[in-house]
Amino acid sequence: MNSNSNPIRLKSRPVHVAIIMDGNGRWANKHNLPRIEGHRRGIKAVKRILKAVRENDIPYLTLYAFSVENWNRPKEEIDALMNLLNDFLTDQLKELLRHKVRLRVIGRHQELPRHIQERLNEAEAKTAQFTRHTLALALNYGSRTEIIDAIKAVTRAVQDGEVDLNRFDYESLRPFLYTGEIPDPDLIIRTSGESRLSNFLMLQSAYSEIYFSPVLWPDFNEKTFQTALNEFGSRERRYGKTTDQLQNS
Ligand code: FPP
Repeated sequence: MNSNSNPIRLKSRPVHVAIIMDGNGRWANKHNLPRIEGHRRGIKAVKRILKAVRENDIPYLTLYAFSVENWNRPKEEIDALMNLLNDFLTDQLKELLRHKVRLRVIGRHQELPRHIQERLNEAEAKTAQFTRHTLALALNYGSRTEIIDAIKAVTRAVQDGEVDLNRFDYESLRPFLYTGEIPDPDLIIRTSGESRLSNFLMLQSAYSEIYFSPVLWPDFNEKTFQTALNEFGSRERRYGKTTDQLQNS
């Protein structure tokens, strides 16, 4: 897309944005509401950002929706989150089809409740042919479990003679990660003022620009998203090179 049709005129635009949607609980506390209401409002923010991502023609969006550590939350909150996820998937399938968005799940999805797995499998299968936009949902996701699962899969592939360790590098590792063919994120956004990655895309984020927003996730909107994109556009990504080298390349 050329700069005339780019709604926000950035120096450079991310191909892949990944978001740590944090602050639902604090938003609920602030408004004297139960935590689940914060998550419900979080879903509204998700829908706003899905639209903004389409409008900005960003090909890949990853959302950290449930981590392996989130199982430690009270059972009522986990059940409520799974119900919200179920409703979201039911409600969003027609939107994904309408806007030609491919759904991918990253994480140990086989450990999610059966009915959620069925919804995810259905949505993944029905949207598999789309190529312009991908929504990756990180569910029961953790970088450390991803790396452990990748090590096990690589070991099996070596034993089966499918992988030559002498020629093994990061590109060879990629297909063994949950993210598979999804490119590494250019921009990672974390909301709610926390400044850490919390076991999210730790390998894939090696050269990501990271943007910490003070806004609580339920309040995140098109404008705050645009602020993050503008900040990304102003950063210089050097990948270990000098500024002079980049200017001459
Ligand atoms: C962090 O807020 C958010 C989560 C653990 C879950 C994120 C889930 C949603 C936004 C809804 C489901 C998403 C989809 C895509 C269906 P927190 O509860 O940790 O907030 P706190 O740190 O303020 O307590």
